Amino acid sequence: MARNEEFMIILNQVKRNILADMDMGLESPFMPDLLKGQRETVAIRAGSLDELEILIGDCKRCKLHSGRTRLVFGEGDPKARLLFIGEGPGRDEDVEGKPFVGEAGRLLTRIIESGMGLKRGDVYICNVVKCRPPDNRTPERDETEACIPFLREQIRIIEPAVICTLGRTSAQELLGREFKITEERGKWRSFMGIPVMPTYHPAYIVRNPSRERELKGQVWADVQKIMTRLGLEVKK
Ligand code: URA
Repeated sequence: MARNEEFMIILNQVKRNILADMDMGLESPFMPDLLKGQRETVAIRAGSLDELEILIGDCKRCKLHSGRTRLVFGEGDPKARLLFIGEGPGRDEDVEGKPFVGEAGRLLTRIIESGMGLKRGDVYICNVVKCRPPDNRTPERDETEACIPFLREQIRIIEPAVICTLGRTSAQELLGREFKITEERGKWRSFMGIPVMPTYHPAYIVRNPSRERELKGQVWADVQKIMTRLGLEVKK
Protein backbone atom coordinates (compact mmCIF):
# COMPACT_ATOMS: atom_id res chain seq x y z
CA MET A 1 0.00 0.00 0.00
CA ALA A 2 1.34 3.46 -0.90
CA ARG A 3 2.36 5.56 2.10
CA ASN A 4 -0.03 8.39 1.33
CA GLU A 5 -2.91 5.90 0.92
CA GLU A 6 -2.04 4.44 4.32
CA PHE A 7 -1.87 7.96 5.77
CA MET A 8 -5.34 8.82 4.38
CA ILE A 9 -6.82 5.63 5.91
CA ILE A 10 -5.34 6.50 9.32
CA LEU A 11 -6.51 10.10 9.04
CA ASN A 12 -10.04 8.97 8.13
CA GLN A 13 -9.99 6.59 11.08
CA VAL A 14 -9.04 9.35 13.49
CA LYS A 15 -11.83 11.49 12.05
CA ARG A 16 -14.41 8.71 12.42
CA ASN A 17 -13.35 8.00 16.00
CA ILE A 18 -13.68 11.68 16.91
CA LEU A 19 -17.11 11.79 15.24
CA ALA A 20 -18.12 8.67 17.18
CA ASP A 21 -16.98 10.36 20.43
CA MET A 22 -18.97 13.46 19.51
CA ASP A 23 -21.99 11.23 18.95
CA MET A 24 -21.60 10.03 22.51
CA GLY A 25 -21.61 13.64 23.70
CA LEU A 26 -17.84 14.01 24.18
CA GLU A 27 -16.16 17.22 23.10
CA SER A 28 -13.76 16.93 20.18
CA PRO A 29 -10.25 17.94 21.31
CA PHE A 30 -9.53 19.66 18.01
CA MET A 31 -11.02 20.86 14.74
CA PRO A 32 -14.64 20.73 15.93
CA ASP A 33 -15.73 23.23 13.27
CA LEU A 34 -13.97 21.41 10.49
CA LEU A 35 -15.48 18.08 11.56
CA LYS A 36 -18.95 19.58 11.92
CA GLY A 37 -18.60 20.86 8.38
CA GLN A 38 -17.62 17.41 7.15
CA ARG A 39 -20.55 15.81 8.92
CA GLU A 40 -22.91 18.16 7.11
CA THR A 41 -21.52 17.25 3.73
CA VAL A 42 -22.35 13.55 4.22
CA ALA A 43 -25.58 13.91 6.23
CA ILE A 44 -28.69 12.60 4.52
CA ARG A 45 -32.06 13.81 5.75
CA ALA A 46 -35.44 12.20 5.19
CA GLY A 47 -38.84 12.56 6.80
CA SER A 48 -39.52 8.82 6.99
CA LEU A 49 -37.95 5.45 6.24
CA ASP A 50 -39.97 5.28 3.02
CA GLU A 51 -38.57 8.63 1.95
CA LEU A 52 -35.06 7.49 2.89
CA GLU A 53 -35.49 4.35 0.81
CA ILE A 54 -36.45 6.53 -2.14
CA LEU A 55 -33.35 8.66 -1.52
CA ILE A 56 -31.07 5.62 -1.50
CA GLY A 57 -32.77 4.61 -4.75
CA ASP A 58 -30.83 2.53 -7.24
CA CYS A 59 -27.68 3.33 -5.26
CA LYS A 60 -24.32 3.36 -7.03
CA ARG A 61 -22.42 5.26 -4.34
CA CYS A 62 -19.90 2.43 -3.87
CA LYS A 63 -18.57 -0.54 -5.79
CA LEU A 64 -20.88 -3.06 -4.07
CA HIS A 65 -23.74 -2.02 -6.34
CA SER A 66 -22.22 -3.87 -9.30
CA GLY A 67 -22.52 -7.29 -7.62
CA ARG A 68 -25.92 -6.99 -5.99
CA THR A 69 -29.18 -8.56 -7.04
CA ARG A 70 -31.27 -6.41 -4.70
CA LEU A 71 -30.47 -3.64 -2.30
CA VAL A 72 -31.43 -4.64 1.26
CA PHE A 73 -32.65 -1.49 2.98
CA GLY A 74 -34.03 -3.05 6.18
CA GLU A 75 -37.41 -4.10 7.50
CA GLY A 76 -39.59 -4.00 10.56
CA ASP A 77 -41.55 -1.56 12.66
CA PRO A 78 -40.49 2.00 11.76
CA LYS A 79 -41.22 2.94 15.38
CA ALA A 80 -39.47 -0.11 16.86
CA ARG A 81 -38.00 0.20 20.35
CA LEU A 82 -35.30 -2.26 19.39
CA LEU A 83 -33.04 -1.99 16.35
CA PHE A 84 -30.74 -4.84 15.29
CA ILE A 85 -27.82 -3.92 13.06
CA GLY A 86 -25.88 -6.60 11.17
CA GLU A 87 -22.98 -6.32 8.78
CA GLY A 88 -24.35 -6.67 5.27
CA PRO A 89 -26.65 -8.87 3.20
CA GLY A 90 -25.59 -12.43 2.43
CA ARG A 91 -26.67 -14.58 -0.51
CA ASP A 92 -30.26 -15.18 0.62
CA GLU A 93 -30.78 -11.57 1.63
CA ASP A 94 -29.41 -10.37 -1.72
CA VAL A 95 -31.95 -12.54 -3.55
CA GLU A 96 -34.93 -11.67 -1.35
CA GLY A 97 -34.11 -8.02 -0.68
CA LYS A 98 -34.73 -8.58 3.06
CA PRO A 99 -32.26 -8.64 5.96
CA PHE A 100 -31.44 -11.78 7.94
CA VAL A 101 -33.51 -14.35 6.07
CA GLY A 102 -30.79 -17.04 5.69
CA GLU A 103 -29.55 -19.47 8.33
CA ALA A 104 -28.16 -16.74 10.60
CA GLY A 105 -31.40 -14.84 10.10
CA ARG A 106 -33.46 -17.82 11.23
CA LEU A 107 -31.41 -17.93 14.42
CA LEU A 108 -31.95 -14.20 14.93
CA THR A 109 -35.69 -14.68 14.41
CA ARG A 110 -35.68 -17.44 17.06
CA ILE A 111 -33.87 -15.14 19.49
CA ILE A 112 -36.49 -12.42 18.90
CA GLU A 113 -39.55 -14.67 18.93
CA SER A 114 -38.76 -17.63 21.21
CA GLY A 115 -36.24 -15.83 23.39
CA MET A 116 -37.62 -12.33 23.72
CA GLY A 117 -41.28 -13.20 23.20
CA LEU A 118 -41.64 -10.55 20.47
CA LYS A 119 -42.65 -10.83 16.83
CA ARG A 120 -39.93 -10.23 14.24
CA GLY A 121 -42.11 -7.42 12.90
CA ASP A 122 -42.02 -5.67 16.31
CA VAL A 123 -38.32 -4.82 15.90
CA TYR A 124 -36.37 -3.22 13.07
CA ILE A 125 -33.52 -5.08 11.37
CA CYS A 126 -30.95 -3.60 9.02
CA ASN A 127 -27.27 -3.72 8.13
CA VAL A 128 -24.26 -1.43 7.93
CA VAL A 129 -24.03 -1.90 4.16
CA LYS A 130 -27.14 -2.37 2.09
CA CYS A 131 -25.59 -4.40 -0.74
CA ARG A 132 -24.00 -7.84 -0.56
CA PRO A 133 -20.20 -7.84 -0.44
CA PRO A 134 -18.73 -10.42 -2.86
CA ASP A 135 -18.34 -13.89 -1.28
CA ASN A 136 -19.71 -12.39 1.96
CA ARG A 137 -16.40 -10.69 2.68
CA THR A 138 -16.27 -7.95 5.32
CA PRO A 139 -17.32 -4.61 3.82
CA GLU A 140 -14.40 -2.34 3.00
CA ARG A 141 -13.91 1.14 4.41
CA ASP A 142 -15.03 3.03 1.30
CA GLU A 143 -18.19 0.86 1.22
CA THR A 144 -19.14 1.45 4.85
CA GLU A 145 -18.37 5.15 4.49
CA ALA A 146 -20.70 5.42 1.51
CA CYS A 147 -23.51 3.62 3.35
CA ILE A 148 -23.19 4.89 6.92
CA PRO A 149 -25.12 8.15 6.35
CA PHE A 150 -28.15 6.00 5.52
CA LEU A 151 -27.72 3.90 8.65
CA ARG A 152 -27.40 7.04 10.76
CA GLU A 153 -30.58 8.40 9.24
CA GLN A 154 -32.39 5.10 9.84
CA ILE A 155 -31.38 5.36 13.49
CA ARG A 156 -32.44 9.03 13.70
CA ILE A 157 -35.86 8.29 12.17
CA ILE A 158 -36.60 5.10 14.13
CA GLU A 159 -35.26 6.55 17.38
CA PRO A 160 -35.09 3.14 19.07
CA ALA A 161 -34.78 2.79 22.84
CA VAL A 162 -32.00 0.23 22.31
CA ILE A 163 -29.66 -0.75 19.48
CA CYS A 164 -28.23 -4.26 19.36
CA THR A 165 -25.18 -4.57 17.13
CA LEU A 166 -24.57 -8.04 15.73
CA GLY A 167 -20.92 -8.89 15.28
CA ARG A 168 -17.72 -6.94 14.96
CA THR A 169 -18.42 -4.82 11.88
CA SER A 170 -21.54 -3.08 13.13
CA ALA A 171 -20.06 -2.63 16.63
CA GLN A 172 -16.93 -1.04 15.19
CA GLU A 173 -18.94 1.22 12.91
CA LEU A 174 -20.92 2.59 15.83
CA LEU A 175 -18.45 2.34 18.68
CA GLY A 176 -15.05 2.84 17.08
CA ARG A 177 -12.51 0.70 15.25
CA GLU A 178 -10.70 -0.35 18.42
CA PHE A 179 -13.81 -2.18 19.68
CA LYS A 180 -13.00 -5.84 20.42
CA ILE A 181 -16.08 -8.03 20.19
CA THR A 182 -14.75 -10.95 22.25
CA GLU A 183 -13.70 -8.68 25.12
CA GLU A 184 -16.31 -5.94 25.00
CA ARG A 185 -19.61 -7.55 23.99
CA GLY A 186 -22.32 -7.58 26.60
CA LYS A 187 -21.48 -4.14 28.01
CA TRP A 188 -23.71 -1.13 27.47
CA ARG A 189 -22.33 1.57 25.20
CA SER A 190 -23.96 4.49 23.43
CA PHE A 191 -24.35 5.86 19.91
CA MET A 192 -26.23 9.05 18.98
CA GLY A 193 -27.37 9.09 22.59
CA ILE A 194 -28.99 5.66 22.28
CA PRO A 195 -27.92 2.69 24.46
CA VAL A 196 -26.09 0.06 22.42
CA MET A 197 -25.68 -3.59 23.38
CA PRO A 198 -22.97 -5.24 21.26
CA THR A 199 -23.30 -9.00 20.91
CA TYR A 200 -22.05 -11.77 18.65
CA HIS A 201 -23.35 -12.14 15.12
CA PRO A 202 -25.69 -15.16 14.80
CA ALA A 203 -23.58 -16.33 11.82
CA TYR A 204 -20.64 -16.66 14.23
CA ILE A 205 -22.68 -19.17 16.25
CA VAL A 206 -23.76 -21.00 13.10
CA ARG A 207 -20.12 -21.22 11.93
CA ASN A 208 -18.89 -22.55 15.31
CA PRO A 209 -21.08 -25.57 16.14
CA SER A 210 -18.55 -26.89 18.67
CA ARG A 211 -19.02 -23.68 20.73
CA GLU A 212 -22.75 -23.36 20.11
CA ARG A 213 -23.80 -23.76 23.74
CA GLU A 214 -21.24 -21.32 25.07
CA LEU A 215 -21.87 -18.67 22.39
CA LYS A 216 -25.64 -18.97 22.61
CA GLY A 217 -25.37 -18.58 26.38
CA GLN A 218 -23.36 -15.38 25.94
CA VAL A 219 -25.79 -13.95 23.38
CA TRP A 220 -28.73 -14.88 25.59
CA ALA A 221 -27.11 -13.07 28.53
CA ASP A 222 -26.74 -9.95 26.34
CA VAL A 223 -30.31 -10.24 25.08
CA GLN A 224 -31.59 -10.50 28.64
CA LYS A 225 -29.94 -7.17 29.44
CA ILE A 226 -31.81 -5.64 26.49
CA MET A 227 -35.07 -7.19 27.68
CA THR A 228 -34.61 -5.80 31.17
CA ARG A 229 -33.91 -2.34 29.73
CA LEU A 230 -37.03 -2.55 27.56
CA GLY A 231 -39.15 -3.72 30.48
CA LEU A 232 -39.77 -7.15 28.95
CA GLU A 233 -40.26 -10.09 31.23
CA VAL A 234 -37.21 -12.36 31.35
CA LYS A 235 -38.31 -15.97 31.87
CA LYS A 236 -35.64 -17.94 33.71
N1 URA B 1 -25.60 -11.28 7.92
C1 URA B 1 -25.75 -9.95 8.10
O1 URA B 1 -24.91 -9.28 8.68
N2 URA B 1 -26.85 -9.39 7.64
C2 URA B 1 -27.82 -10.05 7.00
O2 URA B 1 -28.81 -9.43 6.60
C3 URA B 1 -27.64 -11.42 6.84
C4 URA B 1 -26.53 -12.03 7.31
